[in-house]
Amino acid sequence: TCTNVFPERSVDIQTISPRSKVSIVGAAGNVGASVAYSLLHRHTPVDIKLFDINQKLLKGQSLDLADSAWLGESMVHHSSDLSEAGDSDVIVITAGAKQVPGETRAQLLDRNYKVLESILSKVQPIKKDAKILIIANPVDVLTALAQKITGLPYNQVFGSGTLLDSARLRNHLSKILNVRQRSIHCHVLGEHGDNQFVSWSTARVGGFPLDCFPEMKNIDKDGISTEIANKAYDIIDSKGATYYGVGVCGAFLIHHVLANTHDVRTISCYSKKYQSYVSLPAVVNQCGVDRVLEVDLSELEQEKMNKAVAHIKEQVGQFF
Ligand code: LAC
Repeated sequence: TCTNVFPERSVDIQTISPRSKVSIVGAAGNVGASVAYSLLHRHTPVDIKLFDINQKLLKGQSLDLADSAWLGESMVHHSSDLSEAGDSDVIVITAGAKQVPGETRAQLLDRNYKVLESILSKVQPIKKDAKILIIANPVDVLTALAQKITGLPYNQVFGSGTLLDSARLRNHLSKILNVRQRSIHCHVLGEHGDNQFVSWSTARVGGFPLDCFPEMKNIDKDGISTEIANKAYDIIDSKGATYYGVGVCGAFLIHHVLANTHDVRTISCYSKKYQSYVSLPAVVNQCGVDRVLEVDLSELEQEKMNKAVAHIKEQVGQFF
């Protein structure tokens, strides 16, 4: 017989200590599941609720993700009732059609607008200070439409934008310069997809202009810009979709909100200068988009930005 005497439990392990609530709509899909997986493995205790129209696949993703949450501080569960997403601190929407090989992101707009509108009509009531994070394409346009549909303040509605492209560029430059990525500050701006561009004029490495580095002397910058813009197409041709990269982007952005980190990230956000959503560097914290950094651009970059803004406005204008 066991002679140890153990005291009565005080608090039940299932008691949820105050945790931030994150809802991911579209979590049966690879992007949504990748956001959840990446978020679970940050050390910010979160209560993650997953939603998707495909209930069978959602249940499998949810149970499998729960098995990965070894740290125990985070919870992950799923629901078929989208109204339960409304009281979340961050509502992530990844649902929508994805590009097939050769398809542009812009060609997804009509289908994904219908998905977005349907979801937002069911995620009601939305908590007054909830943040909406859009990770579906065409992301800059869908983010603008999500703000118009919800009527939430601009700072509370933002999208993954060109964050992934900027990460791809940093990765590429890191190999050329033999410098750690976190010492490389460079931005892909404009509209995520065929209207994105690299702002070479604002790129800094360790605080020095990029062109100070001898490795940049004979570099084909246009070739790098094209390679970064085409990376998604290359991945889609090989494996049918991209999701791990953008999944980490989503988890980082959620973490910046929940942990009030004030990181600068290039995201789909509302620019007062351009009177439009567009991908720009912004400070992300508990307010969502705290400040949009309306960065000065070279003449050529400004032309590309104007083209991207005009395209976004034209696409949004089809609906509002
Ligand atoms: C990509 C998708 C997320 O660029 O648009 O991989």
